Amino acid sequence: MKMHNKLRLLGIMLIFLLPMWLVVPVANAQPPANDDFDNATPITGALYSFALIPTSGGLTPQEELGKNLFFDTNLSEPTGQSCAVCHGPEVGYTGPDEALNAGGAVYEGAVPGRFGNRKPPAAAYAGDSPIFHLTKKSGWVGGMFWDGRATGERLGDPLAEQALGPFLNPLEQNLPSPAEVVDKVCGSSYKALFEEVCGQCDGIDVNQAYDCIGFAIAAYERSSEVTQFTSKYDYSLKEMATLTQEERKGFSLFKGKGKCAKCHVINGPKPLFTDFTYDNIGMPKNPLNPFYNEPEWNPLGSAWVDYGLGEFLQSAGYDVNVYEKELGKFKVPTLRNVDLRPYEGFVKAFGHNGYFKSLEEIVHFYNTRDVEDWPDPEVPMNINTAELGNLGLTADEEAAIVAFMKTLSDGYIPDFESSGQMVIQLHPKKRKPLPEPKPFPCCM
Ligand code: HEC
Ligand code: HEC
Repeated sequence: MKMHNKLRLLGIMLIFLLPMWLVVPVANAQPPANDDFDNATPITGALYSFALIPTSGGLTPQEELGKNLFFDTNLSEPTGQSCAVCHGPEVGYTGPDEALNAGGAVYEGAVPGRFGNRKPPAAAYAGDSPIFHLTKKSGWVGGMFWDGRATGERLGDPLAEQALGPFLNPLEQNLPSPAEVVDKVCGSSYKALFEEVCGQCDGIDVNQAYDCIGFAIAAYERSSEVTQFTSKYDYSLKEMATLTQEERKGFSLFKGKGKCAKCHVINGPKPLFTDFTYDNIGMPKNPLNPFYNEPEWNPLGSAWVDYGLGEFLQSAGYDVNVYEKELGKFKVPTLRNVDLRPYEGFVKAFGHNGYFKSLEEIVHFYNTRDVEDWPDPEVPMNINTAELGNLGLTADEEAAIVAFMKTLSDGYIPDFESSGQMVIQLHPKKRKPLPEPKPFPCCM
């Protein structure tokens, strides 16, 4: 074949082949193996996957059931309170009421006037907390709640076990029994979904059904709708977003001089910003906590002290030399969505009693607790002085750490245009044959 004929054939082949080439965004190459931004070399021509963007649908029946349960305001006595009333999606599944956050920061149960004693932590990103246990290296680890008391031992899953508590808690949803919860679910609009996941309502074993409810809620809390990993920080790990200079500086300080990452751990491609261990950071009391004025539930009144983990261990029957050194410790919370709020200036509360009202304030506390005038700690024993209290951060450095924490809010929209390049790949699949032409509708 002559040369120009060969070229012509190649040209024709290319024209026929081109439509079979699909533009396929392929799954991202692994994020940088180390999470050290300062040293990470950017992956040039980064590939990415649209599948990484959350879809609102796509829940499994179990997750969908969990979602129905999570938002069902009929599951309380009196009705009106669902999990979401204290764990609102718009604030990262923690307390969504600005007026409460600005004050005592604890939430009212279904019965008016009955307040809990601690600030709701995030119900998202909690699913990896292991069954509560003691380790040689890090002390007590895991479980749910600020003090770990939903250990997860019974169900083998702390998150599922926790989900069964609020329905029956008189300071929360206040239902009288598991049977009542199951009854209400069997009378709900999502009964069919419940039966698909947990079995027929007719003659159901109440205890099994109740546990099934717990597992469904946990499945929803772990689903990609709640535990999203869609923050600017996550996308920056995939080279789909670029942190500003200040955010990067904050990240360096978070790991380095600020020592934050010692507890709000950032290992792996999907860091949780907690290691589920316990510490006493020396938080002051929150004098606005209405629990101080609830004699029915708190006979100690204003003398009540929240001893956290140590108190739980004591009530669980541990020896004094086990629980004493844990008094005043609380579980390290995730920092994911710590700044997520419906609008700028919306007040959130931080720490187990919500004493702090801004990220600036709590960072300043970490920086200066031991060198400036702060109110006394709620529990003066077992305070961590090795990793916090006098960090020597400048005002700019404090601000940079806050800027970094603001990159941890889910729902960031990555910039596809500038952040990566589409990759054209040869798609091996053959084109589908065209459908047979339909007979022209005529003359019937
Ligand atoms: C009246 C407010 C309120 C309601 C209603 C409520 N919670 Fe909570 N939730 C809290 C508070 C307060 C805590 C922390 C309690 C503690 O540590 O002692 C908490 C803790 C949690 C935690 C533990 C997170 C962690 O990291 O330890 C999860 C998960 C959770 N709630 C999910 C739920 C679910 C699921 C429901 C509905 C079945 C629910 N909550 C209903 C206030 C509420
Ligand atoms: C020694 C472990 C440790 C270190 C180091 C540490 N934290 Fe914490 N952090 C905790 C614990 C424990 C709590 C909960 C304390 C409480 O409620 O009493 C907490 C709470 C927080 C909260 C409140 C979150 C919420 O949802 O209520 C923020 C914000 C925070 N830390 C940020 C930081 C920053 C920023 C640094 C570094 C300057 C840092 N932490 C260093 C253990 C630590």
